[in-house]
Amino acid sequence: MGKLFPAFQKLEGRRVVIVGGGDLAARKARLVAAPDVDLRLVWTCFSPAVVEEWAGRATMIDRSPVASDFDGAALAFVALDDELEAARFGAMAQSAGVPVNVVDRPEISDFFTPSIVDRGDVVVAISTTGAAPALAKRLRAQIETLLPRRLGALADFAKSFRGAVSGTLAPDRRRAFWERVFAGDIAATFLAGDEATARERMITSLNAPDAPPRGVVHIVGAGPGDPELLTLRALRLIQEADVILYDRLVGEGILDLARRDADRIFVGKAKADHAAPQDDINERMVALAGAGKIVVRLKGGDPFVFGRGGEELEALKAAGVDCHVTPGITAALGCAASAGAPLTHRDFAQAVTFVTGHAKGDAEPDLDWRSLAALRQTLVVYMGVETAPRISQRLVEAGMNAETPVAVIENGTRDDEKILTGTIAGLGDLVSTGDIAGPALLVIGETAAFARPTFTRDVARERRSA
Ligand SMILES: C[S@@+](CC[C@H](N)C(=O)[O-])C[C@H]1O[C@@H](n2cnc3c(N)ncnc32)[C@H](O)[C@@H]1O
Repeated sequence: MGKLFPAFQKLEGRRVVIVGGGDLAARKARLVAAPDVDLRLVWTCFSPAVVEEWAGRATMIDRSPVASDFDGAALAFVALDDELEAARFGAMAQSAGVPVNVVDRPEISDFFTPSIVDRGDVVVAISTTGAAPALAKRLRAQIETLLPRRLGALADFAKSFRGAVSGTLAPDRRRAFWERVFAGDIAATFLAGDEATARERMITSLNAPDAPPRGVVHIVGAGPGDPELLTLRALRLIQEADVILYDRLVGEGILDLARRDADRIFVGKAKADHAAPQDDINERMVALAGAGKIVVRLKGGDPFVFGRGGEELEALKAAGVDCHVTPGITAALGCAASAGAPLTHRDFAQAVTFVTGHAKGDAEPDLDWRSLAALRQTLVVYMGVETAPRISQRLVEAGMNAETPVAVIENGTRDDEKILTGTIAGLGDLVSTGDIAGPALLVIGETAAFARPTFTRDVARERRSA
């Protein structure tokens, strides 16, 4: 087959004829159906499913097609299993001057239907010239993940300003203006769902087209480590960013997804190393946004779960910087899934509680031990490795059964994940002898017994039986 030329066909007010009465015909009908398309299904019999789906939405002509059915049609599809009949009706459409697609018969078809990514006015069509339809489907799935859900609405939004832009800017300046709109804060604000602000910004930039562009900061959750656990939006924002400020906990491989020319700035804090205090990070983000950059502040897990995302959002808002938050999979969810330990369970845990085990100086975590020791819940402790012995002691003192299962999950969802299991009484020893060096969670409660250990050691029990 020679090279194909892609073109987009107007169907508004036009007739489209589909020859066939079964599932194949229904699939083609779904591709072209629209309120302003004169859709006709012609065949000797229609399956009950086709009647149910299309009666009232298309003209259904219950007989063998005749030449006049194709008169004035924009397109025709022949969706029949019988090869001879398919060829006959394909030729009938062609004699009437109508381009035809005979399903699965490229040699007698005039056009092919591509794999389509549909975002309203924005449509991406993919063809492999019939060489590998399965590959086209894969590409479609990949493109689906990259294009924002509100892209079609963004195109409509832009259309509503087309007249104003043409009336305000000379032709040679329009292109640069639109590029700024789509690459900058206006599109980011619109795609984040704030159409009213995007509209105001559009009017402001039309009134002052030479003003420097506004930047924007996206506070983005990178998930617990495995890049495949990024959300689609996180992936898109990482790929669009001019600058990425990232933490120590952002998983390996995630920064590789950024544009090659994006600046990557490490602002993570290793314990006891306060090289980049929070105020500096905030100031840096404000300065970068002020310079018109699209900034992604990438944080491990979810930005609003023990992630200081709230503080950063407040600081950015106070400085008048546009800021949007994209959630991520928090460590508790990622680790639980990876270890196979549900956080709630109809028989064992009706609640789940996330707490921080962090303690200032030598003090112990400031927690309500009695309520945490209550039965029938799963307790997940973030940043609790150092205080694990104290946590174990306090929970048992507060009435938790010493045999309550625990799991310690280090580097959850990453290649070097380690899972230790034991009991609450032995938690301190489990952590100290388990050589835990990376980020780790303590999961406490009956559900922890489901965790699939990579290493099991109930040190307390070993001691008792020694
Ligand atoms: C400052 S908190 C950040 C939490 C993050 N915002 C979240 O939602 O997961 C850091 C703590 O999260 C936990 N953590 C983060 N990633 C982890 C992982 N991949 N495996 C186990 N624990 C993790 C550890 O307890 C670590 O000390």
